[in-house]
Amino acid sequence: MKSTDNKEKTAKPTVKRGVTKPKSNAAAGLTELFEDSLKDLYWAEKALTKALPIMARNATSEELIDAINNHLVETEEHVTRLEKVFDLIGKKAITKKCDAMEGLIEEGKGILEETEIGVVRDAGIIAASQKIEHYEIATYGTLRQFAETLGLEEVASILELTLDEEKGADKLLTEVAVNAINLEAAEAE
Ligand SMILES: [Fe+2]
Ligand SMILES: [Fe+2]
Repeated sequence: MKSTDNKEKTAKPTVKRGVTKPKSNAAAGLTELFEDSLKDLYWAEKALTKALPIMARNATSEELIDAINNHLVETEEHVTRLEKVFDLIGKKAITKKCDAMEGLIEEGKGILEETEIGVVRDAGIIAASQKIEHYEIATYGTLRQFAETLGLEEVASILELTLDEEKGADKLLTEVAVNAINLEAAEAE
């Protein structure tokens, strides 16, 4: 009934060149987009709990190893927080493969293959990790805003907690890079 009404009211859209037609099951509204993005992020955080230990094992700077291990503990909490968010919105916590995070993790693994263990690999690990943190910052920032728009205040504040930790991790990685690694990596040339 509703869809028939919509059909009657909606003028046939003119197809613009390069505009992708939605799949028939494409997200219809902000709530769906929000929930879909949460599933992506849930996949991403879970993937990071496996990728971070690999990065830590390949790092040599004690400062960097500590930074990664601390963020691993936070990342495990991020997974738990997302489960709480799913619970609050009355949805089952399910993952959906996040292509962007998969690519970023692959890029990180590629750096490990292309470098010898030592300061240069450490610099590469920081670069890859910061791209990951920036992706997470962008995603949590967006989803917190979606949650606010949707009137989900508790969800918004949970997402904000994680957002702050992603920002903290990024800042710490910058400090580690500035303090020692990039300088040593340049000297190692
Ligand atoms: Fe995270
Ligand atoms: Fe993170």
